[in-house]
Amino acid sequence: MRAVVQHGTGGPEVLKVEERPVPERGEGEVLIRVEAISVPFYETQLRSGMLPGGEPSLFGHEAVGVVVEADDENLVGRRVASMSYVGGAYAEFVAASQYTVVPEQVSAENAVAAAVPAAVAVALVRTAGIVDGETVLVEAASGSIGGYLTRLAKDRGARVVATAGHGKAAADVVLDHRDPDWRAKAPDGINVVFESIGGLRAAELVPKLAPRGRILAYGLLSGEFPVITVADLISRGLTLIGFGGPDAYGKDVAAARDEALSLVADGTLTPVIDRTYALEDVVEAHARAESREGVGKVLLVP
Ligand SMILES: NC(=O)c1ccc[n+]([C@@H]2O[C@H](COP(=O)([O-])OP(=O)(O)OC[C@H]3O[C@@H](n4cnc5c(N)ncnc54)[C@H](OP(=O)(O)O)[C@@H]3O)[C@@H](O)[C@H]2O)c1
Repeated sequence: MRAVVQHGTGGPEVLKVEERPVPERGEGEVLIRVEAISVPFYETQLRSGMLPGGEPSLFGHEAVGVVVEADDENLVGRRVASMSYVGGAYAEFVAASQYTVVPEQVSAENAVAAAVPAAVAVALVRTAGIVDGETVLVEAASGSIGGYLTRLAKDRGARVVATAGHGKAAADVVLDHRDPDWRAKAPDGINVVFESIGGLRAAELVPKLAPRGRILAYGLLSGEFPVITVADLISRGLTLIGFGGPDAYGKDVAAARDEALSLVADGTLTPVIDRTYALEDVVEAHARAESREGVGKVLLVP
């Protein structure tokens, strides 16, 4: 089969399409003939070495396709969305232990654009416990998780303040996160912050939070953790919640995947796709994803 192999860290050109054997399915795993693959922003950071993550020989994590082998014969022929922590999703076939059956009316492209990011958004919104009338700040609302968070927070009756490049967000207030001073321009009285940008200046939002506000830190788009100290939190009674790792990601997000795909099937969530590339054009696909010129997901099809 054709698969994308990572040769060291660096620019998109370290990714090369090569011939590899079809993976052998382990116990409890399904073997999937891949139809569509997601290129999320964090994979460009893993590839470049900005985020530590090792160098899996086969690259990629999020794929959707049709089951060709499984312990449960009823799964064969069904479309599933899979998450491969060990890599190998940029390929014609992937073996996966974590997968979710995709509702019939959802296309492979829409499923792969939603299965992980919409599930992360559903799990984050559950954790935040948003109450009708609260003000919610969604960082990087132009991204997949941020876009789904914006919609889900609005559905809970929140007023949404969003950050985006080039005004690419549908919220009540939109701030341009390319402006290094955007936090000073945020409105007062924010109850919940979905923090995905991180960095040394993250604490500049603290004066903008309402007393007892909650900050859910789940991303590292700037490449740095958000620097927020107890001193920032204590006098305003704020709560900082870290969301990630095996518990949040492996359990809460996995548990939210069915709901996320159902919300796509019933039209509540609409995946946004920027461009779709052939597997052979993986270098162009990575260059597009990290250019931040588009809106929505970059996809690969094998
Ligand atoms: N904790 C978890 O369980 C979990 C799970 C999955 C992903 N994540 C993290 O969630 C974050 C968002 O993922 P995603 O899949 O939604 O991303 P995505 O769809 O690939 O979108 C990338 C977004 O990031 C923005 N961006 C990139 N670099 C930025 C920077 N330096 N400052 C501000 N914005 C920047 C872009 O905005 P513009 O183009 O508009 O500028 C774009 O909106 C990532 O950090 C990812 O690692 C966390």
